[in-house]
Amino acid sequence: MKFKSFILLASLPLMAAACKGGEPQLGVANIDKVIAAMTLEEKAHLCVGTGQVGATGDDPVVGATTKLVPGAAGTTYPIPRLGIPSVVLADGPAGLRINPTREGDSQTYYCTHFPIGTLLASTWNTELVESVGESIGEEVLEYGADVLLAPALNIHRNPLCGRNFEYYSEDPVVAGKIAAAYTRGVQSNGVGVSLKHYAFNNQETNRMANDVRIDVRTAREIYLKGFEIAVKESDPWTVMSSYNFVNGIYTSESHDLQTTLLRDEWGFKGMVMTDWFGGKDAVAQMKAGNDMLQPGREGQFEGIVEGVKNGTLDEKVLDLNVKRILEMILRTPRFKGYKYSNKPDLKAHAAVTRSSATEGMVLLENKANTLPLKESVKKLAVFGCTSYNFIAGGTGSGNVNHAYVVSLLDGLKNVGYTVDESVKGKYEKYIAEENERNKPTGPYAMFLPTPAPKELVPSSAELAKMVAANDAAVITLGRLSGEFQDRQLADFTLDEKEKALIKSVCDAFHAQGKKVVVILNVGGVIETASWKSLPDAVLLAWQAGQEGGNSVADVLSGKANPSGKLTMTFPISFYDHASSANFPINVKTEMMKVDGSEVSDAVKNVDYTNYEEGIHVGYRHFDACNVTPSYPFGYGLSYTTFGYDKPEVSSDKDAVSVKVKITNTGKVAGKEVVQLYVSAPKGKLEKPVQELKAFAKTPLLAPGESAEISLKVPVYSLASFDESASAWVVDEGSYALHIGASSRDIRQEASVQVAAASYKVNAIKIDK
Ligand code: BGC
Repeated sequence: MKFKSFILLASLPLMAAACKGGEPQLGVANIDKVIAAMTLEEKAHLCVGTGQVGATGDDPVVGATTKLVPGAAGTTYPIPRLGIPSVVLADGPAGLRINPTREGDSQTYYCTHFPIGTLLASTWNTELVESVGESIGEEVLEYGADVLLAPALNIHRNPLCGRNFEYYSEDPVVAGKIAAAYTRGVQSNGVGVSLKHYAFNNQETNRMANDVRIDVRTAREIYLKGFEIAVKESDPWTVMSSYNFVNGIYTSESHDLQTTLLRDEWGFKGMVMTDWFGGKDAVAQMKAGNDMLQPGREGQFEGIVEGVKNGTLDEKVLDLNVKRILEMILRTPRFKGYKYSNKPDLKAHAAVTRSSATEGMVLLENKANTLPLKESVKKLAVFGCTSYNFIAGGTGSGNVNHAYVVSLLDGLKNVGYTVDESVKGKYEKYIAEENERNKPTGPYAMFLPTPAPKELVPSSAELAKMVAANDAAVITLGRLSGEFQDRQLADFTLDEKEKALIKSVCDAFHAQGKKVVVILNVGGVIETASWKSLPDAVLLAWQAGQEGGNSVADVLSGKANPSGKLTMTFPISFYDHASSANFPINVKTEMMKVDGSEVSDAVKNVDYTNYEEGIHVGYRHFDACNVTPSYPFGYGLSYTTFGYDKPEVSSDKDAVSVKVKITNTGKVAGKEVVQLYVSAPKGKLEKPVQELKAFAKTPLLAPGESAEISLKVPVYSLASFDESASAWVVDEGSYALHIGASSRDIRQEASVQVAAASYKVNAIKIDK
């Protein structure tokens, strides 16, 4: 941890300025005195940010701040006479997002594009995620930003959510633990994070005015749980409220969410800001405990001033909002006068992204140990447009202005393969033409991904040549999605060209006894059941950041053993996910309403979305209804195998503890993700068949080596939420413990007797 020494030194100059013009100075005078010295207008300004260049209110503006750190998403309002500086808020989850170049300045400000959130979560390695967070935080600090607008931990309710790539999992324990690790890492640099988007932002379609209709139990157990875990385990500086309504109220205007739950129940100590232009009524937002409105609009400023004047907003409430913002500012490097270098260690971070990415890649198929490629395989034929145009991450505010992306071709060459470049020119010309033709249009054009070109299917003559000249084939399938738009159903399924490409390459190479590997360079779930038996191996590489090609090559060559596991269920059919009955499918972006709308019943899944599946999100539904997935939650192969010894179980009144010895029973070194699922006894509430309650990753185990893994489940986390009693309730009885390599690959079973417990909480009224 490198909490910088500037923290102690930097308050000295401010001390000297303590009595500037007799005004109390922030950080020197008592904070309440500083607030008392502020005019009403200054307080209102501080709560609404400084606006964005070019923002008219209905423009989606990402990265339009020009002062301080160009390209950052927002800044806070400075009040120099009280020693209050403007601090910088910048995106986002896969690395800092700022402008890479500045007018009249020859220096560049590129940031490292780290793997997408889904890949990081697929490592199931909280230490690794923490160290990636440390590297991201160093770029935040050294480029002069103060708060990173990440991590994003909304639940993968449905495979088609356009921003799932930024998010972690369909399971709240994975989402919460990974977000907490990321937060600890980033904040170890003395900069802050913003947990987002709190909460229920599970679709992009009409995201600013969609009304999520959900029951309290589901809300608490699935959609709020990850935030609860992250708040309790990592002390985030800030939280970002979401755009949407929940049961008729904007989340940013909900006192129950922003105060009763977040602060009073979970103990959050920081500041809440809106998502950009989110919500409607500034006074209601202040009262709810949503302290800052970003990026800030004149009308919001006027609304707050007017609210105090006409008595609808108690100035004491506003003072509390102001105090929380000032407390956040006090923690920032900018307040402390840190002299940032504008020279983060990009070289070291490139190595971090290259190696971390291999740990989150999921080996889906590996017939006859095709991977790692045998030493005799030296020449590779490479197919698929994405092989020639590798995707580092998704679009929108989760994107990063990277200096480069290592292509698959270069990555393969870097580890010593000879890559057949005979079709390279053809692919490159075709991709350039198609990209030009398919450029998005309309108001959101600059933020939308260009649809991937249709695949080129090689002729039999071309194929024959490539089979003869090469030892094996690699096909990459790609998918790109992002903010403002959900994925279309056609993005989930493979089209005829893609299917034909896989089939023709497999037929031709297999006829000569040569292997075919499919790489999935995707940000979310796609259909796999209909074609996965054709190739010899399938590697889910996700969108692995700027070193993606190198990371994939490390895995194919065996330099790295992939140890990722799925944090979501890959269904056979899209409709196998219970949420698919209530999700916008193929809706055009024109359906989007801007912020400040009224709740509407007009169009299902656009104006409102019924979370009818309740707690049966992801594997909870597949297990309850016995639906066979294509790949289950928690699944992932390795180049080695692992044995699980009989577990030792102990418990006391606070927690259940499980110890299990894991042994590498194969021939190469590897890491295993150990998952603990719990089935509760029958009680008053209907329970999921099983739920993930803890997980851990082994260290790298050499063949024959063992590690003892300890998993701890607090009794509180065995509880279900009983709305009628407004309490988390643990039923008495025998709890079955399933210790496994996936949700459908349970290796050891045990049970433990648990006494009844009940944790009463204040009711939150987010009910229909
Ligand atoms: C996104 C946020 C992001 C913000 C600032 C919004 O459109 O939803 O995730 O942090 O913009 O760029």
